Amino acid sequence: MLSELRNKRPLKNADDKIHEWLMAQMAPIVSDIKRPIRYATEKIRLKTDRAPLLEEIFEGVECPVDEEGNRIIIRVREVSKIFGKSPEVVIPLLEKGMSKGEILKTTGNTVGLYDINFDVKEGEIFVLMGLSGSGKSTLERCLNRLFEPTTGTVLIEGLDFTALKTDPLRVVRRNKMSMVFQNFGLLPHRDVKNNVAYGLEMKGMDETARLQKAQVAIEMVGLVGYENSKPASLSGGMKQRVGLARALATDPGILFMDEAFSALDPLIRRDMQDELLKIQAELGKTIVFVTHDLDEALKLGDRIALMKDGKIVQIGDAEDILQRPADEYVSRFVEDVDRTKILTAGVFMKKPHDVVYMTQGPRTALKLMEENDSTMIFALDKKRRLQGLVEADDALRAVRNSMKLNEVMITDIPTVYTDTQMSDVIQLLVTNNFPIPVVDDDNVLLGVVRPAAAVEALNVGGDFNG
Ligand SMILES: Nc1ncnc2c1ncn2[C@@H]1O[C@H](COP(=O)(O)OP(=O)(O)O)[C@@H](O)[C@H]1O
Ligand SMILES: [Mg+2]
Repeated sequence: MLSELRNKRPLKNADDKIHEWLMAQMAPIVSDIKRPIRYATEKIRLKTDRAPLLEEIFEGVECPVDEEGNRIIIRVREVSKIFGKSPEVVIPLLEKGMSKGEILKTTGNTVGLYDINFDVKEGEIFVLMGLSGSGKSTLERCLNRLFEPTTGTVLIEGLDFTALKTDPLRVVRRNKMSMVFQNFGLLPHRDVKNNVAYGLEMKGMDETARLQKAQVAIEMVGLVGYENSKPASLSGGMKQRVGLARALATDPGILFMDEAFSALDPLIRRDMQDELLKIQAELGKTIVFVTHDLDEALKLGDRIALMKDGKIVQIGDAEDILQRPADEYVSRFVEDVDRTKILTAGVFMKKPHDVVYMTQGPRTALKLMEENDSTMIFALDKKRRLQGLVEADDALRAVRNSMKLNEVMITDIPTVYTDTQMSDVIQLLVTNNFPIPVVDDDNVLLGVVRPAAAVEALNVGGDFNG
């Protein structure tokens, strides 16, 4: 009941969030301010004081890597967040195992988060999932320090982000992070292009340059033709595209998205999910995506952290969560899921590592196949649209006879969409001896389903008669 009520009032919360974030972004760095100066000493200080440069902040900092050599962009260690007057008395109680409810009753403090630990790898979509009130937004806000964690550390590319003072904090935030909100947070009096250019303006970029950059982002999210429109004239899906473009325009390494698609109609929501997968495949952003929707989590998440009462109960990929639920809570969460929705290509596809661009030619194709220990590779045009498939023998023949990729490429290959049922994909896997490409309406390659995924899908317990 309470959670329903909360969901019915997203506007106020979202507005607060947007305000908070925009203010955090806008708040001028000391050297930007032209405030009246009363004392000579202060004048001198202000003149010489400047915000640190990003390179200075990161000097000597080493980004951690995991055992496979992936850079760890966000590392969270023992983060807790207590809301209330006496957070210090709460931590020992939590250590003794007292529950969130008991703590609220006996101390009046709310446990937002307790003992959160995880790593987010470069280029990964990391989903925070859980019921309303489980702590997803609190956790995301502790990562970008819209909230101060009560305890624990957050490392950004190895830098202790939790220890940063105001100025370096803003510099890192402006250069490395963006946020996309559920209720768009667009400035009503600005047209689309100036909304998208907003973050760049905050960074002090001149008008021509920022509008140019904004245009690139506008093209990326499919808003060409709407540059001069005002937000009020746009549909919800379009507004969300503007929000996404604004976040992308500053070219942040990390994108925070909090229920960004939750307010959209189902079909538009699906489009936006595909759009995000496409952009992510192209740009390799690191994304922390908050959702209460399991289907969305399974479709988007490279890994999913399932939260309950301010704690993470399980971290894993879609298969882990579905097949090896860590406890009763996860099982129940997963039980309700519509199996036919889960057993789709979008859930079982993996990133297409094995791609070559037409402009790269057969020699590169061969090299990439060697690196990936593969005998075939998908060929894409500049816009990542699928052009065909090249087999190793043919690539070799092309190199020997100075032929182009398109002369040896197989163009007649089956493709599927993210919502294609796995039963159909499995049929294709059986009759073709290569992974099945998953594309969007423009034939942009979003992922591939490999034979191993079929086995996963069968294990998840689908009934493949239909
Ligand atoms: N600013 C705040 N002050 C006090 N309690 C808060 C605040 N923000 C969140 N909480 C509490 O923290 C818990 C987690 O909330 P939240 O992170 O918003 O959950 P979710 O995003 O998963 O719905 C809830 O019990 C909520 O009431
Ligand atoms: Mg939330």
